[in-house]
Amino acid sequence: MISFAGGIPAPQLFPYEEIEEAYHQLFRDITKRAEALQYSISEGYPPLRDWIVEGLRKQGLQAERHHVFIVNGSQQGLDFLGKLLINPGDEIAVENPSYLGAFQAFNCYQPRYLTVPTDDDGLRTDLLEPVFQKNPAMLYVMPNFQNPGGVTLTLERRQQLIALSHEYDIPVLEDDAYGQLIYEGEPLPTLQNLDAMARGGEVENGNVIYSGTFSKVLAPGFRVAWVVAPKAVVERLVLIKQAGDLHTSTINQMVVHELLQQDFMVDHIQKLRSTYRARRDAMLAALDTYFPDSVEWTRPRGGMFVWVRLPEGMNGTALLEESLEKIKVAFVPGEAFFADRTGKNTLRLNFSMMSPEQIEEGISKLGGLLTQKIPNPVHG
Ligand SMILES: Cc1ncc(COP(=O)(O)O)c(C=O)c1O
Repeated sequence: MISFAGGIPAPQLFPYEEIEEAYHQLFRDITKRAEALQYSISEGYPPLRDWIVEGLRKQGLQAERHHVFIVNGSQQGLDFLGKLLINPGDEIAVENPSYLGAFQAFNCYQPRYLTVPTDDDGLRTDLLEPVFQKNPAMLYVMPNFQNPGGVTLTLERRQQLIALSHEYDIPVLEDDAYGQLIYEGEPLPTLQNLDAMARGGEVENGNVIYSGTFSKVLAPGFRVAWVVAPKAVVERLVLIKQAGDLHTSTINQMVVHELLQQDFMVDHIQKLRSTYRARRDAMLAALDTYFPDSVEWTRPRGGMFVWVRLPEGMNGTALLEESLEKIKVAFVPGEAFFADRTGKNTLRLNFSMMSPEQIEEGISKLGGLLTQKIPNPVHG
């Protein structure tokens, strides 16, 4: 089986030795080991929050420790923010398509979804104003290497989005799970940064709530992620966390903090980028070679996914069944990522898990299957 279905980091790239050593080191310090195993505050381990604040200040933001809240994976942040911002029946705006896990988190709070189309440059901000006129409880958006589309919101659109969010006073939840996994071009400013710059850099009183995670650059097993938001929002999240799980694992937060101080992190992130870049390149080259002309796909500058659009009338779910049976290649049919259940002719392909050779093999088989179904010549 060749699987392009998962959306997870390659386990060969976890920094096993460094992580093992960081746990050992923690246990050799008798003060720290007691702290690591004890109950702790709900906001999160202060030195880890300070490390995040330092990064925000380097971007020119005026941020304090009380703006940073540690969560048990950014998935928990999505759930908590859903709990905080959504009342049953509220409308919320989402990209079409958007992250399935966010729907799972938000659905518990019974929103109605207003969908905003996306294209190769991310969310169509030219179509956002009529949506904001309906006064949604929030906009949930992934500006960098979106899951599932792989697309990146341009600077111009980021600016337009922030201007509209100010004009209509709509909170924006910025999910930046993949921002560090950049393979090409310069990183763009976060929505939170653009929003804060309109107030001289202040995170306080901002319209944007930022969600970041260590899952993709260290390991998802730590379940350590963070939210940056105005103080009043963090205070509400703290109450929700006290009811939910008291706090995120202290020992894991301390180890993550220790790892972040170490020199190897720079090389580690470069290694992630070069490995995933090679896998992305292998997938794009194989798609060019083996997929029929009438199929379209995105060219992601980062992240883990290529998004494929089959000709109208084709069905990704039916294709998956046939693919599993005949060629043993897995992927995710795109329909589930559309809040309005359109997109039946789309697929999500993950490139982080398979080697370049497996990627070429899987895409050539899938291209062969598609070529039988679509009577079009194959690319040169
Ligand atoms: C867009 C997006 N947000 C959030 C998450 C959740 O990540 P975690 O809970 O591991 O931080 C994922 C995981 O794949 C994701 O793709």
